[in-house]
Amino acid sequence: MKTPDCGKGALRATLTRRLQGLRPKPTSLFVVLDPGATEVAERAVRLAAKDAGMTATFVRGPHGESRKTLASAEKLAGKLIRKGLDRRAFVLAVGGGVCTDVTGFVASSIMRGVRWGVAPTTLLAMVDAAVGGKTAVNLEEGKNLFGAFHFPSFLIIDTNLLRTLPAREWRSGRGELVKTAMLCGGAMWRSLCSASGGSLARRSEALTTLVHKAARYKAKVVAQDPQEQEERKLLNLGHTFGHALETAMGPRRLRHGEAVALGVLCAVKVAVENELAPASTEADMRTLFTRHDLPTELKGPLPNATTLRRLLSRDKKADDGLLQLVVPLAPGEVVLVKGVAVQDAVGVLRRTLG
Ligand SMILES: NC(=O)c1ccc[n+]([C@@H]2O[C@H](COP(=O)([O-])OP(=O)(O)OC[C@H]3O[C@@H](n4cnc5c(N)ncnc54)[C@H](O)[C@@H]3O)[C@@H](O)[C@H]2O)c1
Ligand SMILES: [Zn+2]
Repeated sequence: MKTPDCGKGALRATLTRRLQGLRPKPTSLFVVLDPGATEVAERAVRLAAKDAGMTATFVRGPHGESRKTLASAEKLAGKLIRKGLDRRAFVLAVGGGVCTDVTGFVASSIMRGVRWGVAPTTLLAMVDAAVGGKTAVNLEEGKNLFGAFHFPSFLIIDTNLLRTLPAREWRSGRGELVKTAMLCGGAMWRSLCSASGGSLARRSEALTTLVHKAARYKAKVVAQDPQEQEERKLLNLGHTFGHALETAMGPRRLRHGEAVALGVLCAVKVAVENELAPASTEADMRTLFTRHDLPTELKGPLPNATTLRRLLSRDKKADDGLLQLVVPLAPGEVVLVKGVAVQDAVGVLRRTLG
């Protein structure tokens, strides 16, 4: 996994060099652009490609969780082929996590795989979705069940692109940021604890620094364990509970990062109930979440136990019907607890959010 290029204006500043550095030289450049990403991103890509001596062909990518489907991937692949993509083409995904997940998945399979790069445009994609080479679409049976590992040739994180992000997506991204800070601990955790939601403004240096730290932290973990055999599993803190909630509630009621935040609270509950963390941890986490405008409870009733059981048991980390839960002991200190019965996880959800 390559170290991300990060910074305000990084897209215009580094894309030309990244494109020129590709070996063998691509025959063509296809840019899959999230319709929500602004003209700023499009202009930066166009100019950088021109400087690299390439003409970019733009294709509209999918956005929004409901479009993260096999049908979207098929549509995108068809568009790329009709526009002349061949095996030596290069695909650049510019967008939120849905756009980068679907585009990466298409790049992994089209013509048996073409090279790709990523320029995330949402906070969530910058700190998580676009980092790490996991690509997927959702199936009716659950999230991200159909996909592949396909590592991008480069990753460019330009925090200037966040200026237009709607408040809801902004909050969702902060869910993954808090998760990463909890995993990373140290200075990252301390700066998140001392910042209020408001002071982490989009244009602030504090935000840019945190985004860089989060992306680099993830890239480092992925580099050590690219195929998620062990270490990388810890990045899924909050995701076993979070994915079940997200699928059950639907993207309108619960965005990915909001679901992850609730999932982290459930994981904290497991730690406290098993006396792996002090009892005060749960209240402290709720206070921190509230300060960062993250949810601490569900809007509406918890889905019924049968639904939760079904969704939890489809977790990709489940082993022989038993769950593996990432449990935080303290900031920077997490463990993987194996062999958790699905019914016990339903109980945790009830006691945390019911
Ligand atoms: N592959 C991974 O490792 C990984 C990790 C975490 C999350 N994910 C996935 O990421 C997805 C969520 O990504 P997301 O939160 O970015 O959602 P998203 O891609 O749906 O984007 C949210 C909305 O923001 C819009 N948007 C994008 N950039 C914008 C900008 N700069 N200004 C204004 N609007 C903009 C999009 O058009 C969309 O409407 C989920 O499907 C999740 O499973 C993947
Ligand atoms: Zn996530």
